Amino acid sequence: MSGLTAPKGTFDVLPPESARFLAVRETLTAPLRRAGYGYVETPVFEHTEVFSRGVGESTDVVTKEMYTFDDRGGRSLTLRPELTAGLVRAFIEHRLHTGPLPVKLWTVGSAFRYERPQAGRYRHFTQVDMEALGVDDPALDAEVVALGVQGFRDLGLTDFELLLTSLGDATDRPPYREKLVEYLEKLDLDEETRRRAEINPLRVLDDKRPEVQAQLDDAPLMVDHLSDATRAHYDAVRQHLTDLGVTWTEAPRLVRGLDYYTKTTFEFVHSGLGAQSAIGGGGRYDGLSAALGGPDVSGIGYAVGVDRTLLAVQAEGLDVAAAAGVRAFVVPLGAEAKRLAVRLVGQLRQAGVPADTVYGDRGLKGAMRAAERSGASHAVVVGERDLADGVGQLKDLRTGEQRAVPVGDLFEALRTAVSA
Ligand code: HAM
Repeated sequence: MSGLTAPKGTFDVLPPESARFLAVRETLTAPLRRAGYGYVETPVFEHTEVFSRGVGESTDVVTKEMYTFDDRGGRSLTLRPELTAGLVRAFIEHRLHTGPLPVKLWTVGSAFRYERPQAGRYRHFTQVDMEALGVDDPALDAEVVALGVQGFRDLGLTDFELLLTSLGDATDRPPYREKLVEYLEKLDLDEETRRRAEINPLRVLDDKRPEVQAQLDDAPLMVDHLSDATRAHYDAVRQHLTDLGVTWTEAPRLVRGLDYYTKTTFEFVHSGLGAQSAIGGGGRYDGLSAALGGPDVSGIGYAVGVDRTLLAVQAEGLDVAAAAGVRAFVVPLGAEAKRLAVRLVGQLRQAGVPADTVYGDRGLKGAMRAAERSGASHAVVVGERDLADGVGQLKDLRTGEQRAVPVGDLFEALRTAVSA
């Protein structure tokens, strides 16, 4: 019988790599917590409509990639392909717009997309997501973008770039859309692409096929057709970004995979990742709340892919989890020493010192190997003869130096040694 494996496109995160995964997740969320964003949890599945109405019917995400199923009560539910629509659903349901604005939220968790798996592209992945709702202020756009940049910087990443553009608003979009449709009609496109163009012509700009790209050189671009108001908004965002010390690349052809974006739109790309180079992305979505049946309020946010960011960290050879593992280790030899070891480790942990011991009968050699592998800087070894003498051996695992310490002083000695 063959054993069961994780489903295609999914993977397990195991120690010791998992320490890096956690460190990346922590570091990406720390700037949000420092900037007044509050933690939210929403369900991993939502009514399918949340995504079909929220993310948009013309997107690959909704048409091809959702894990949708009927539950036993006959409801159509979908595993979230992204976190924004669910957060906005919660914002509406709990009438958060009636409180102080903007409402600043963050979350981190699983997302699911039935995509073709490849390096950096999975069917189950983890996003850090943040949203600022209820205020349309270019300074808020700049705050959001800068917080994304901060997370990557705090990890020590340098080979990433911020791509920035404005996708216009509800008044700029229709006339631009008409111009683009007019342009696309003259091109040599297959039936399916034409159908997609009818629902959302912008998506054609994002078509990766060379035969399509070759025809798009002179396509009209949204940034060249912004109204005065939207242009002023975008100018102000860029001014604030400059003041915040954030640099960017103008990306007038940037098309995001989700339909809700308006005005400021951005992506973070890393040069060490190959085809799946986007480590994060986001933008303003001023119609999303209304599309989900809520108040007509604005919003902006981003999501960062934790898995891809971890790949970026590895690509740059950064050590982000230096503090992981235990600091103190206790090696008991014999039943009496075992009691002392369990007590000592318990005391150390209570005092906040990361500590561990061996379980099962490992013998001196196996136990010392476990001590070395644990990452601890110091160990206490207690043998039967030591106990008879009323001592334990305090050993510096880095130098091999060793000295006898009275049993009653072991806790203090070990605690002092590992924090030196
Ligand atoms: P997104 O660009 O679809 O945006 O996803 C954000 C990030 O999630 C991507 O840049 C990538 O790092 C990661 N990601 C997406 N799909 C996969 C996958 N199949 N495997 C691994 N990583 C993946 C959103 O999801 C929006 N909700 C962001 C947002 C928040 N916009 C406004 N607020």
